[in-house]
Amino acid sequence: MPKFTRKKLLCLTAPLAAVPIAGKLVLEGSSAEAAGHDHAAHNTSASHTSTSHAAVGHAAMIGEGAPAVGGPHDLDALLYPPPALPHEPGRLRELTIVATDREVEIAPGVFFPAWTYNGTIPGPVVRATEDDVLRVRFVNAGAHPHTIHFHGIHPTNMDGVFEIVERDGELTYEFPARPAGFHVYHCHATPLKKHIHKGLYGAFIIDPKEPREPARELVMVMNGYDTDGDGENNFYTVNGRTFYYARYPIRVKQGELVRVYLANLTEFDLVNSFHLHADFFRYQPTGTGDRWEYTDTVMQCQGQRGVLEIRFAHAGTFMFHAHQSEFTELGWMGYFQVEE
Ligand code: CU
Ligand code: CU
Repeated sequence: MPKFTRKKLLCLTAPLAAVPIAGKLVLEGSSAEAAGHDHAAHNTSASHTSTSHAAVGHAAMIGEGAPAVGGPHDLDALLYPPPALPHEPGRLRELTIVATDREVEIAPGVFFPAWTYNGTIPGPVVRATEDDVLRVRFVNAGAHPHTIHFHGIHPTNMDGVFEIVERDGELTYEFPARPAGFHVYHCHATPLKKHIHKGLYGAFIIDPKEPREPARELVMVMNGYDTDGDGENNFYTVNGRTFYYARYPIRVKQGELVRVYLANLTEFDLVNSFHLHADFFRYQPTGTGDRWEYTDTVMQCQGQRGVLEIRFAHAGTFMFHAHQSEFTELGWMGYFQVEE
């Protein structure tokens, strides 16, 4: 099995017999006819049939034709955040986060040896209202030392940098939730690059005192996976699985307010981005302040995040994807299905 890079994935036209399955999703999209291989025998995805094959190579890849793992509600807990609670200073919000090592199927037949918070990549959506007291019991059931570093304003001994939690250890982080906005959390053990890339990160919403307007709320965490250990990503996703929202488009209604909490935790690449087709949204960096940009494309460095608000003017099927075309072809693409 030769070592392959993402560049090879994108330009390779040789027969696929010796190429790991990781490469196939892309090859089918970019050079399927030239490759002329029989992939069905190697693929575990029910979606992956000869009829889907033609679809994969074209812009219309959607539904059954999209190479995504799992059922239609598998990622609901990562996509739909818990509800916002009204402002009530001093209210205690308690949760437990457990670090575990596990193999995660990120694309059909592609298993990534992950380090996770609560078993998923990204980890659970953490949500609080400004001035809540957040108490997070962190248990390290993984094989390596970890921490949780929350972005926000808090005492430095709650920062998840100096107090390393060894294997089988635990630590309780407690701090007031502030400032209001959209933040992230991630492991801060060294080497940091590895601990983040392995999957230890998640979304952290702090609702403002004055509640945001009611909306259909969604969380999207952009990431990448280096599946061959060469320090470059082979796959890109939102919420952890390639093409998941192409297989299962996100259903929203025409005219309703749709709010997306978008964060980037991609390692190795300098930036990631979100581009919406056929409509515009307003974007508030970090979900703080009142500065909005009206656009259809935003880019984020690792750790950057922001809030998007969209009201779809039309019903129909709206593509969204990274505007790095390569990331799109490697899994970071989906659709909104907007109903009248
Ligand atoms: Cu770690
Ligand atoms: Cu950070």
